[in-house]
Amino acid sequence: MRIVETERLILRNWQDEDRNLFYEINRDEKVMEFFPLRRSHAECDILFDRNRDMIRETGLGFYALTDRVTNEAMGFCGLSPVDLPGILPEGSVEIGWRLATRFWGRGYVTEAASRLIEHARIHLLLPDVHAFAVDGNHRSIAVMQRIGMQRLVDQDFDHPRVPETHSHLKRHVLFRTQFDSIEIRTR
Ligand SMILES: CC(C)(COP(=O)(O)OP(=O)(O)OC[C@H]1O[C@@H](n2cnc3c(N)ncnc32)[C@H](O)[C@@H]1OP(=O)(O)O)[C@@H](O)C(=O)NCCC(=O)NCCS
Repeated sequence: MRIVETERLILRNWQDEDRNLFYEINRDEKVMEFFPLRRSHAECDILFDRNRDMIRETGLGFYALTDRVTNEAMGFCGLSPVDLPGILPEGSVEIGWRLATRFWGRGYVTEAASRLIEHARIHLLLPDVHAFAVDGNHRSIAVMQRIGMQRLVDQDFDHPRVPETHSHLKRHVLFRTQFDSIEIRTR
């Protein structure tokens, strides 16, 4: 199931041969620097299956980001429902990404995420898309800025699911791309 494609990439649903890459990106300390949780192989498999089913059933989720020539999965980039009551309105959708380190620095996520923002507006007819990151996750925040998202400057928040044992990962910044603003033109 193909979601979108770009000049160099295809975003598609996951295939069984992508599992090793999925373990890698969920267990590599550099990739996981800003996340408190480390998953076992079995837990990664549960997450992999759940995400694949959600994409199949709803079209939303964290899609496999793949090389369009080789079909190799390099990470993920996706549009996924987000549940942060009191912080984001019910029904909000986030854009998020994670890439194996050997593929950093090539512009892949910026290329994929820009196309997904277009997909969210044109095909999914979403009113907006949010993104958030630990304050200090400069690489991720740089992607948000490069794809033209706006920072909601007065809406930094403490992520409720980050445990107190990892207090340095609690503070998050919030970005949004809004599509539903009415354009009023005067002649
Ligand atoms: C966040 C993350 C996906 C960003 O990866 P990235 O490689 O920096 O992002 P991109 O793929 O968009 O590439 C941009 C980089 O490639 C360079 N680049 C090369 N060719 C490019 C091109 N054609 N277009 C854009 N950038 C290009 C850019 O200059 C930039 O490098 P720089 O930061 O050294 O200036 C990656 O760091 C990651 O997986 N982090 C761990 C997981 C994570 O924190 N996820 C986010 C949670 S909120």
